[in-house]
Amino acid sequence: MQNIRAAITGIGAFLPEYRLNNEELSTMVDTTDEWIMQRIGIKERRILKEKGKATSDMGAEAVKELLRKTNTHPDEIDLVICATITPDRPLPAAANVISRKTRLVNAWSFDINAACSGFVFALTTGSKFVESGQYKKVIVVGADMMSAITDYTDRTTCPLFGDGAAAVLLEPTTEDVGIIDHINHTDGKGRHYLHMKAGGSKMPASMETVQNRMHYVHQDGQTVFKYAVSRMADVAVEIMDKNNITPENLAWLVPHQANMRIIDAVARRMKISPKQVMINIQKYGNTTAATIPLCLYDFESQLKKGDNIILAAFGAGFTWGSVYLKWAYDSSK
Ligand code: UT7
Repeated sequence: MQNIRAAITGIGAFLPEYRLNNEELSTMVDTTDEWIMQRIGIKERRILKEKGKATSDMGAEAVKELLRKTNTHPDEIDLVICATITPDRPLPAAANVISRKTRLVNAWSFDINAACSGFVFALTTGSKFVESGQYKKVIVVGADMMSAITDYTDRTTCPLFGDGAAAVLLEPTTEDVGIIDHINHTDGKGRHYLHMKAGGSKMPASMETVQNRMHYVHQDGQTVFKYAVSRMADVAVEIMDKNNITPENLAWLVPHQANMRIIDAVARRMKISPKQVMINIQKYGNTTAATIPLCLYDFESQLKKGDNIILAAFGAGFTWGSVYLKWAYDSSK
């Protein structure tokens, strides 16, 4: 039997219309466009403002576009995996709601919580179902409504995050394309440096937790920064070496978009040029599980069949990982 690989065969995305730019943020907290551009590299982020709308609505719109673009009937989808840390509710899973909203009646579905590495972990997981030969069409969604868990009175975190969603279709291939390798890690010691303090089983929601603003993302920025640079670079260089990828034969690095300085440091360690790096952080900020598929979406028209692509991410947990794939279609056609 020929080896089956999973290949990305299409991408859909959704971004809310509202743009929260640095000027507006400067009226909310003590910050400036100059500080944010120098220290992070974000100009504006999209915010889902419509009342009653949530992560599943963004995920569903991304899936609808994906089905349209790939001419796929909803009945054909076998499995949906949604990477998110901001499901509509703690339960059920956002993937269950997305499947219902897009009429994926034959698919089972579940969420993956790996924070900013969510898409890399979910793509790895989805690819294994396809490689088994049992699954023909798997959708992997990265969707986060970070505005729901961002404290807009805290200048150290509120410039960082935005809302968005993107989804890819995975299908089997026996050609020399598709998802080839991954290196993923977690280390729970990171829980002290990047987390939400309350709302889980350790500290359920109460008047006190709300009053103390414990339902927002908290982080020790400098510690997270140091780990993000070293772990993301280590894993990206390791996957390059393992698969004989050189700066010359790498088409693209698709890094998680948390901070422009982290992205630059990883690219330097990989000895690649800035032209080989997908960057859209200036437009959307850190959309957590959505950053990597949103990059693929924005750069889709520049991708060619056979392009060597490395994805790399780092996030809360800590979680970090890298995927090596060969792009499966000429997107410009
Ligand atoms: O995606 C998941 C993982 N998350 C990350 O990868 C984020 C990693 N961390 C970072 O990107 C950076 O640590 C931040 C962007 C969060 C912060 O940048 P930094 O260069 O580490 O700044 P800092 O925390 O060391 O703060 C430097 C100064 C401080 O003032 P003093 O103490 O030197 O007077 C802060 O109070 O900058 C101040 N500051 C700000 N000033 C203006 C912090 N936030 C702001 C702000 N505007 N928004």
